[in-house]
Amino acid sequence: MRKKIVAGNWKMNNNKRETAELIQALKPLNFSTDVRVMIAPAFTHLVQAEELTQVGRIEVLAQNMNASESGAFTGEISAGMLHSIGINKVILGHSERRAYYNETDVALKQKVETALTHDMEVVFCFGEELDQRKAGTHFEVVQTQLETALFDLSASQWSKIILAYEPVWAIGTGETASPDQAQEMHAFIRGLIASKYIQEVSDGVSILYGGSVKPANASSIFSQADVDGGLIGGAALNADDFTAIIQSA
Ligand code: 13P
Repeated sequence: MRKKIVAGNWKMNNNKRETAELIQALKPLNFSTDVRVMIAPAFTHLVQAEELTQVGRIEVLAQNMNASESGAFTGEISAGMLHSIGINKVILGHSERRAYYNETDVALKQKVETALTHDMEVVFCFGEELDQRKAGTHFEVVQTQLETALFDLSASQWSKIILAYEPVWAIGTGETASPDQAQEMHAFIRGLIASKYIQEVSDGVSILYGGSVKPANASSIFSQADVDGGLIGGAALNADDFTAIIQSA
């Protein structure tokens, strides 16, 4: 049985003090042990976040990393650097990285491989844009994203992959996918994985939904059969909202 996961992607928000305050305002005792809770603060606060969450059940992940092991890549952070501060999970392929930093599925495939080499867990984001949804090509778009970036992985490597379907038109817009739209896409994704790998891989992979998840809509989305939780942006910056969303999982 897949465990539910609720992950907060803080994006480029919160200074050092705000990071500590938000973590301290999250009360892990209120979270069911059936849910994995994760937060992704900025790189500069990962060490602090790791220290502050050690007694609780909150897992800390990075928002990005470079595909290379080391070298002349000014401003970049490697998997080995993350590993050395105890971070063993990373978000890859967020639509903002794809849109603003030209991250392609081919480049992401390399990042995923590097992360897995370091035994890191990957929250892999993907999803269609509004014009693609309107044109009815959303299934094809998602299929290509997954096939290019992930379908050369071995079946055993999938134990380290968490998928996050984030339709770009729903991110930060207040317009969320309906529970039916989320379920339809998640079932499609699970079917794709089942046709490429064995059923066990498809049944085992957690598929999160992301895009304007709020306390008011979380339970209707999370209760769908193939939705295993959410990747939360704006609402993860408020301890009460994030807690309410975790309690909906
Ligand atoms: P919002 O929840 O703010 O729409 O952001 C979703 C997201 O991008 C999470 O990675």
